[in-house]
Amino acid sequence: MNTRREWLIAAGLIILALIPSLAGAVRVGEIAADAPVTSANARFMEMPLPVVVHIIGALVYSLIGAFQFLPGLRRRHLGWHRFAGRYLLVPAGLAVALTGLWMTAYYDAPPIDGLALQISRYVVGVLMAMSIVLALVAIARRDIPQHGAWMIRAYALAMGAGTQVLTSAPFAILFGAPDEFWRLVQMDAGWLINIVAAEVIIRRTILRRRPAGLPREHTVAA
Ligand code: HEM
Repeated sequence: MNTRREWLIAAGLIILALIPSLAGAVRVGEIAADAPVTSANARFMEMPLPVVVHIIGALVYSLIGAFQFLPGLRRRHLGWHRFAGRYLLVPAGLAVALTGLWMTAYYDAPPIDGLALQISRYVVGVLMAMSIVLALVAIARRDIPQHGAWMIRAYALAMGAGTQVLTSAPFAILFGAPDEFWRLVQMDAGWLINIVAAEVIIRRTILRRRPAGLPREHTVAA
């Protein structure tokens, strides 16, 4: 992969993360400034710690994480890849998933976020945390292809927050606020698109580079 293409991928991932990250920065600013409590922000103002940890974790994970997937950068700066993964991205990714689960369980969600969306969030939060743990297990066994595949899955699930902006904003502009059903469709579509994209990328890069005649465990990382 040439350097220009690699940087385009990183830029694309950062652009995808930008809108939820900006929304998060606004929410943290509102909490820090002790803004007036409204029905829209009451849950965040009453219990700010989980959402603040979630948003800071999401900023670190999505922005720094984008660079972990660039093969050239990884090869040239393996020390940075290991340092960032171990001390920044694994803690940040687990914080995002676990606070996401915590908020799903304990925040008083708006009526439009029904039970089915709550179940989707539990599934996504558990899958994301599990993918990070499986990526760690794989690297402890020096299984680099599986490490890469699980990290791609974890990142794709987290970046559902970005894709959800694309699956919901056009409909909000055209038709206004969705009802509970359409809200679920728009949110689940964001996660599903990313899950499918991740599996396609894993098959096209990591699995395709398996040397001819060798079984799967000999696949080399992208
Ligand atoms: C990098 C990825 C992510 C970003 C950038 C992100 C961003 C945000 C932001 C900005 C908020 C605050 C929303 C507001 O102020 O109204 C939020 C809330 C929330 N996030 Fe995430 N998030 C990410 C990943 C996840 C994941 C993987 C889950 C899975 C469980 C999740 C679950 C939640 C929940 C349950 C809330 C509270 C929603 C509410 O009560 O309205 N997030 N997220």
